[in-house]
Amino acid sequence: MKKRLSINLTKKNAKELPNISSGSLIVGVYEGPFTEELKIIDEVSNSQLRKLRKLGELKGKLGQGTYLPALSGVKAQRTYLIGCGKKGKKLSRQDGIKVLSKVVSAAISSKASTTFISIPKLNISGEGDDWVIQQLAFLCENNSYTYDAKLNKKNQKKVLLKRVSLSFNSSLSTAKLNRSIKVGLAIGRGSNAAKDLANLPGNVCTPSYLAKESRSAANKYSSLKCSVLGEKEMKKLGMDCLLSVGAGSAQESKLITLNYQGGKKGDQPHVIVGKGITFDTGGISLKPGATMDEMKFDMCGAASVIGTMQVMAELKVPINIVGVVASAENMPGGKATKPGDVVKTMSGLTVEILNTDAEGRLVLADALTYVKKFNPKSVVDIATLTGACIVALGHSTSGLLSNDDRLAQKLLTAGTISNDRAWQLPIWDVYQKDLDSNFADIANIGGRAGTITAACFLSRFTKDYSWAHLDVAGTAHLGGAAKGASGRPVPLLSHYLLDQS
Ligand code: BES
Ligand code: MN
Ligand code: ZN
Repeated sequence: MKKRLSINLTKKNAKELPNISSGSLIVGVYEGPFTEELKIIDEVSNSQLRKLRKLGELKGKLGQGTYLPALSGVKAQRTYLIGCGKKGKKLSRQDGIKVLSKVVSAAISSKASTTFISIPKLNISGEGDDWVIQQLAFLCENNSYTYDAKLNKKNQKKVLLKRVSLSFNSSLSTAKLNRSIKVGLAIGRGSNAAKDLANLPGNVCTPSYLAKESRSAANKYSSLKCSVLGEKEMKKLGMDCLLSVGAGSAQESKLITLNYQGGKKGDQPHVIVGKGITFDTGGISLKPGATMDEMKFDMCGAASVIGTMQVMAELKVPINIVGVVASAENMPGGKATKPGDVVKTMSGLTVEILNTDAEGRLVLADALTYVKKFNPKSVVDIATLTGACIVALGHSTSGLLSNDDRLAQKLLTAGTISNDRAWQLPIWDVYQKDLDSNFADIANIGGRAGTITAACFLSRFTKDYSWAHLDVAGTAHLGGAAKGASGRPVPLLSHYLLDQS
């Protein structure tokens, strides 16, 4: 097992900074007068900082980084000074994260296993010091992620950072700050667990693999139980719609349930449901070849569910939560579903499959019917559902659609606080007729507003409970040079669920 990253709060006098022998020393610097810490470093380094200031190399501007290797008078091998802007000035959360990301990337790029961070107070609109510390902890863990599962040793990019000492003056209690560190680290690890699953190639990460990984996650926590349905069991439950997606694949489809009991036995659970298409070729409605490899990421919703369940178990959140993963591989094959085929859902509604590439909603339809049995307090599904969502919102913002505006508001807030933002799109009745079919109760595609009609389709199966849908097609993974999973929306989901307790 890899050694875990740890973050410890320390109270160090400014005078002690030069004598700290960690691999790197990272100190925040305001615009304007030097803080005590800066004055001391300036003193021991023969006025090096004042010289840099004169040269315009140490303005303290928000996010500006100054790298000083082997600074004389300072024991740490590398010193980084990170601009924190004007002292006392209100910063947006985005600005706060800009500074904290710089701090963390300095710690990581120093290639040291230990770092000492001393940041002055940041004044974040609407947030206290606990938010700053939680974000810093999250970023330390999240930004340390590297994917090397299938790389030879010599090609692995190891991040060496293991121990962070943090000096931070706050009026909040140490207990509260330590809890913030714990929450931030746990969410970071959950996010990284999601990335690890999603980055695996489709020939490794199959529905059975997701089932195996879910089981081993459940084995780590006594509060977490895993159960898996195979195709035979799903057939018995009438899940022909879900099963139609994997019909052309040699891989068996799976319905995975992770049950977390942190509350009382009878407490209604919050349910999260993830789309787990381990590869989406489009099926008979085959996708074009360019960037088709990225359709291995079509199980990012599932990965976020598995990652978030681990965060909840780690933090012993005092509520009940059920995580469900609807998993299949969408392949063309002799037994594959064809355009025009009609299948029956578990709910009884029949679906005309006009496009086999609109498969996510098909697996979700039956999963969303299945979760009724948990008598859920709320249900949130997470899916890389539509390319149209990327057209609408790009790669920074997830789409959110809901039949309950109060639930939508809670999720939007969780996204804002965790910097894992979503934006709500309407799911009005005028769009529902786009799904009319001449040959079944509903069609699986229709209309121009692709993200909305996809959600309309799901809404036909979620009438009995408070429900929201997160379309993470643009946010759960990125393409191009930064190709890889992002771990989103684990932070949003974690904050949302933490707020329910
Ligand atoms: N998994 C895709 C959506 C997707 C596209 C995710 C690009 C990430 C990046 C989904 O199954 C799909 O193919 N959707 C179709 C729906 C269409 C056939 C109505 C789409 O968006 O083109
Ligand atoms: Mn598809
Ligand atoms: Zn898909």
